[in-house]
Amino acid sequence: MPEPLDAALAEVRSMLLGSGLTRAVAAGRRRGQRPSVVRAELRPVVLKAGPRLQIATSDGVRPYTRNVAPGPESDAAVEALLAEPFGNWHVETANSTLQLRVTKSGEAQVHRAAAQPVRASGDQPDGQQQTAAVPGGHDRAKEYLLDPGDPIFVEIGGSAAKRRQVDAFLRALVATLPSGLTGPLRVVDLGCGNAYLTFTAYRYLSQHGLDVDLVGVDVREDQRRRNTELAERLGWADRVRFVAGTIADAAVEPAPDLVLALHACDTATDEALARAVRWGARWVLAAPCCHHDVAAQLRAGGAPTPYGMLTRQGILRERFADVLTDALRAGLLRLHGYRAEVVEFVDSAHTPRNLLIRARRTDAVPTDEQRTEYRQLVEQWRITPRLETLLNPATASH
Ligand SMILES: C[S@@+](CC[C@H](N)C(=O)[O-])C[C@H]1O[C@@H](n2cnc3c(N)ncnc32)[C@H](O)[C@@H]1O
Repeated sequence: MPEPLDAALAEVRSMLLGSGLTRAVAAGRRRGQRPSVVRAELRPVVLKAGPRLQIATSDGVRPYTRNVAPGPESDAAVEALLAEPFGNWHVETANSTLQLRVTKSGEAQVHRAAAQPVRASGDQPDGQQQTAAVPGGHDRAKEYLLDPGDPIFVEIGGSAAKRRQVDAFLRALVATLPSGLTGPLRVVDLGCGNAYLTFTAYRYLSQHGLDVDLVGVDVREDQRRRNTELAERLGWADRVRFVAGTIADAAVEPAPDLVLALHACDTATDEALARAVRWGARWVLAAPCCHHDVAAQLRAGGAPTPYGMLTRQGILRERFADVLTDALRAGLLRLHGYRAEVVEFVDSAHTPRNLLIRARRTDAVPTDEQRTEYRQLVEQWRITPRLETLLNPATASH
């Protein structure tokens, strides 16, 4: 329900000037109006001179940061920002989060939620366990990491099934990132499509205090245009960018810390993993989609004795190829200095494509056993996974 704008801004004012403020961002613009800055970010800081309210603004070209003293100076600075025709305010305090969007008719669409801490990786080592551990399904706040009532869904749309899938992916992401992580965190979403994951990941991570810079890559130029317009409408265009290009060589500068890929088609997942390794990304989460590459090689080359029964029938061959493909992908990541595992990130009732390859860079040197195990597997089955060719074009087995 829209609310009177003045009353909603008064609530924002008291959160900005209250003692519990964690972070606030104002961005976007109201219909037919233009604020004097494109973005303003406020956070409390403690300087030698004492506590201050830090206000960082950007005119779209240069950032400008100032620290104002509590009392009249902060009051005046906050008043001036509230008078700007920003389209969105996002305010986080120790206890709550408020998201205000000014509607076309000049009213306030407000979403309020209790603050939720980002869970540490040690808390819940497995994304699927977190999802499954939610009891009963009656508590919306627990059932979803990002509230389905969050105003961003008005802008980004998406079916209930897609939201659930993306929410489950986010849970796995939260379980992967270490506790106490502070930004800046550079993220790329490869094969982002309509960018449901891109936007919800940005929303969730920035809502929890991380300084996130996110790039969505998709080969389709129409997706880039659409997603860029959405980012502008959400007031995030300076933090969430979109590039039209292939996963293999789209321009993403600087290299990301975190690589996401949700259902990039067939060997596009291999391209995403190879790119992540080349970037030296610290974390990689890739949920593969259809697998055709290894299945086609099995069909052409047959199975070694005595495993013919595993691949003679089409459906068994496809399923076996799926398992083989993802096991080898994880194995190759281990050979390239990652700790890698394959987990279910969402129930198979939501999508049959429910596996997630989750990897963290450790720079561990692979053991001889790991190398031999990998090599024997591909040689016995006479296959060359696409990822192997992408990572080691000179030494690929076939
Ligand atoms: C099945 S959609 C998934 C989109 C999104 N990640 C999601 O889960 O909603 C796959 C997307 O990957 C893109 N894509 C496939 N191969 C690609 C490649 N090699 N480079 C860049 N984008 C690619 C497609 O254009 C498509 O938008």
